[in-house]
Amino acid sequence: MSQQEHPAGTTSAEPAVAAVVVLAAGQGTRMRSRTPKVLHALGGRTMLGHVLAAAAPLGARETAVVVGSGREHVTAHLAEIDPAALAVVQEEQNGSGHAAAVALDALPDVTGPVLIVNGDAPLLRPETLAGLVAAHRAAGDVLTVLTADVDEPTGLGRIVRDTAGAVQQIVEEKDADDDQRAITEVNAGVYVGDAAAVREALTRVGSANRQGEQYLTDVLGLLVADGHRVGGYRADDPADTLGCNDQRELAERRRTLNDRVLDRLMRGGVIVIDPRTTWVDVTVEVAAEAVLHPGTQLHGVTTVAAGAAIGPDTTLTDTEVGEGASVVRAHATLAVIGDEVSVGPFAYLRPGTRLARRSKVGTFVETKNASIGEGAKVPHLSYVGDATIGEGTNIGAATVFVNYDGVAKHHTTIGSHARTGADNMFVAPVQVGDGAYTAAGSVITEDVPPGAMAVARGRQRNVAGWVGLRRPGTRAAEAAAAAAAAETDGNGHADIRPTGSAPDDEQ
Ligand code: UD1
Ligand code: CA
Repeated sequence: MSQQEHPAGTTSAEPAVAAVVVLAAGQGTRMRSRTPKVLHALGGRTMLGHVLAAAAPLGARETAVVVGSGREHVTAHLAEIDPAALAVVQEEQNGSGHAAAVALDALPDVTGPVLIVNGDAPLLRPETLAGLVAAHRAAGDVLTVLTADVDEPTGLGRIVRDTAGAVQQIVEEKDADDDQRAITEVNAGVYVGDAAAVREALTRVGSANRQGEQYLTDVLGLLVADGHRVGGYRADDPADTLGCNDQRELAERRRTLNDRVLDRLMRGGVIVIDPRTTWVDVTVEVAAEAVLHPGTQLHGVTTVAAGAAIGPDTTLTDTEVGEGASVVRAHATLAVIGDEVSVGPFAYLRPGTRLARRSKVGTFVETKNASIGEGAKVPHLSYVGDATIGEGTNIGAATVFVNYDGVAKHHTTIGSHARTGADNMFVAPVQVGDGAYTAAGSVITEDVPPGAMAVARGRQRNVAGWVGLRRPGTRAAEAAAAAAAAETDGNGHADIRPTGSAPDDEQ
């Protein structure tokens, strides 16, 4: 089989195709968006990104992307995702045939099989393109088109075959007669053909059709009329061939893509509690026996290790989650969450957050550029920005790392096994040594040596009888008077302070 002789995705000497041409100049009017159509995103990539990713394993030496509408944006994006690809400008959008001709003109030295693909086909998979190319090579046809049998062919080009089943031509919906319109085999907008033959046929494509455009699809009829054989390769999964022309189709494609990703994860042993509310980008990796709870969204280059539990209602972007970690109702970007770490509920981890093994970031805690040591805890209501916290340290509730002086950001370092009091301000730059304590309510502006107790707050002063004098007649004054009377009656208050028990580290 030619698929074995020319396996796509390997670094065999001869690539499966000589060049890849992506047609991406169209305006995408039906999207009703200022964003060029191929830059709309789903599953963590743009449509263009998905098409290029599907074609990449073919190993083509040349990739050309035809740009036109919104060309600055498309070209800039292309430079980011595939710097080696060539952006070819189609000044006027005279149709897909014109676009293909412009691209092939920019690749004058290319000979042999060329893949030409619509830029709005985000569900294409490498295996489908490999199958198309293999079928093309095996048949030895001059050109092979990817097709699909669909229930709803409206709007798509119809594949017209002769009685023997050989492809005769493609007829666009708008130019089709009733019999042709009844055909349910449609053109996916993906073709592999001999560069020289396609170049030559494109010079003969006219625009005498209902849209007044040069149709790439006319190449098939021209080649057949020349006596060439043209093939039609049916995709195994018709979903692969679906285009994307408006926001409703984009949402449908996004759902299909997500279903595919979750299907792959679940086959690999990931526990997905509610696939309908779980969204995972194609670029994310999740290990077996991780649990994704409802409302989980994993984006970018996020990785989740075995046994970790994510969600409910958690969004992680470019974040690494270690084995057995728990991340509940959290939002994280560019964070590293170590093994057996506990995050949330209600935590916000911003870029540069690094949580070492068994550490904890609790409820209503925000972190940024913060390194939290092994077993260290920031359990409640805190902001930790530009900070290093040593292993085994506990940060009291309602602590703020005061990192910004209005002009520059500064760093705070807290040593290991320290115990900082509730409601502290660490005014950076400042350091707290290993094993040090700080008193509740302290504003720490100076370094605290190891083992010291820092107290940085006003001393308490009680003004006896103030309420009776200054707020007479209030409920507070009445309660105070009653308490005073009870005391003089001899029913003095009991000593309610605890005896012997150490205060809890995490109050
Ligand atoms: C096209 C096919 C149709 C097929 C369908 C599959 C043609 C004539 N028709 O129809 O048979 O069933 O795709 O989705 O090709 N483009 C340019 N420059 C242009 C015009 C278009 O680069 O001047 C690009 C578009 O950006 C798009 C692709 O070519 O990626 C196809 O154009 P589009 O207008 O989307 O064609 P369809 O009507 O969808
Ligand atoms: Ca289209």
